[in-house]
Amino acid sequence: MNVRVLTGIKPSGTPHLGNYVGAIRPTVRASRESGIDSYLFLADYHALISTHDPARVQRSTLEIAATWIACGLDPERVTFYRQSDIPEIPELTWLLACVCGKGLLNRAHAYKAAVDKNTAEGRDPDDGVTMGLFMYPVLMAADILMFNAHRVPVGRDQIQHIEMARDLASSFNHLYGPHFTLPEAVIDEQVATLPGLDGRKMSKSYDNVIPLFAPREQLRRLIMGIVTDSRAPGEPKATDGSAVFQLYQAFATAEETAAFARDFAAGIAWSEAKERLFERIDREIAPMRATYDELMAHPARVEAMLRAGAAKARAEATPFMARLRAAVGLRPLDTLATMVTAMGTATSWGTATASTAPAKAAPPVFKQYREADGRFYFKLTDAKGHVLLQSTGFDSPKDAGQAVARLKAEGWAACADLHGAVTAAAEADKIEAALARLR
Ligand code: TYM
Repeated sequence: MNVRVLTGIKPSGTPHLGNYVGAIRPTVRASRESGIDSYLFLADYHALISTHDPARVQRSTLEIAATWIACGLDPERVTFYRQSDIPEIPELTWLLACVCGKGLLNRAHAYKAAVDKNTAEGRDPDDGVTMGLFMYPVLMAADILMFNAHRVPVGRDQIQHIEMARDLASSFNHLYGPHFTLPEAVIDEQVATLPGLDGRKMSKSYDNVIPLFAPREQLRRLIMGIVTDSRAPGEPKATDGSAVFQLYQAFATAEETAAFARDFAAGIAWSEAKERLFERIDREIAPMRATYDELMAHPARVEAMLRAGAAKARAEATPFMARLRAAVGLRPLDTLATMVTAMGTATSWGTATASTAPAKAAPPVFKQYREADGRFYFKLTDAKGHVLLQSTGFDSPKDAGQAVARLKAEGWAACADLHGAVTAAAEADKIEAALARLR
């Protein structure tokens, strides 16, 4: 199976060098390797959290889509789409929200930063915090888990979000079986977080960005405006903490960077250092500018690419979502015919966790029920109703459900620790065959 690489960018402003270095460039490179399936998208639902300006969202969507293509993305080779064209993503967001502890989201950096700022300024802690901001990590987890991505190339600021996606995937898998791959963040160690004009992280929210496709003269002007210390020409300069140096490093080879560091130690003038930085960045960006400008002048072409990408993405998302819906119990009611059988004096407390196959296929069935002793049981029966497994009583329906989910996911032999919770069992191979069939 190919490695699945997925990443997204919010269309909430003009793409900048930080987006390019942190996400676009590594992802485009990876998308050209063999054995990689890439999923790249415009996170426009996420953009609605930070901007309420419809024209800006639309314009930025075009700019970021054109950027991906200008930076070398081949939409035929990858799956390139707009988040809001995939209705399965918000649907999955809800399923994940239902297994997500509120405490997990309370610890999200962006939410905590908003709360801390409000508190420091004497306002209500949640002043101005929308549910969109609070739920941001859940929507992002849905983006990633929808396509079972293995790797997610992002800037350092996003690591916590990927960890949360892993947490949500584990919680869901634990409850409903192994549906999701646990994703990993991929960070370009050399780059870390790219600083902006004022030395803080380059970010639309700090208004300190260098637009990726700024015309050449504007690019030079912006670079000349980067904040530095006041050391004069001839005075040695520290590379640590220098935005000029960090930006250079993100574009240059190791040898070029080492030479630049030597020039810092030898007291290069800031104006010359900035000129070198400008030339180095422009050398990489200039060849892509023409494609960008061409696409910006023809939005219909970009729209057609995104629609084709959405169709490709939904060909996977729609059947996967159907499987997830069935897993959580959002199932057609006619499948109940295969599950409900007489239970004597038992009190039925829920439907079985059987597959959603039609009745005529007569699959094996797990039945979960509550006995008069108040405890929760399950049994596995074959197509003819013969009992293959009968459990002892569990304290809660959740415990019984988790045992069933594990048996379904892992098989009988792999769940040796559950054998003690079973009072009757048919031959192991019959049980394994039934469980395999349910899977
Ligand atoms: P966004 O649009 O804020 O940033 C897009 C990507 O650019 C990286 N980045 C940076 N990298 C280095 N230095 C910087 N100064 C800098 N600024 C931004 C970000 O780390 C990010 O990788 N939440 C995401 C969008 C998203 C997403 C996803 C990403 C939504 N769903 C699923 C991956 C997987 C974001 O902040 O985008």
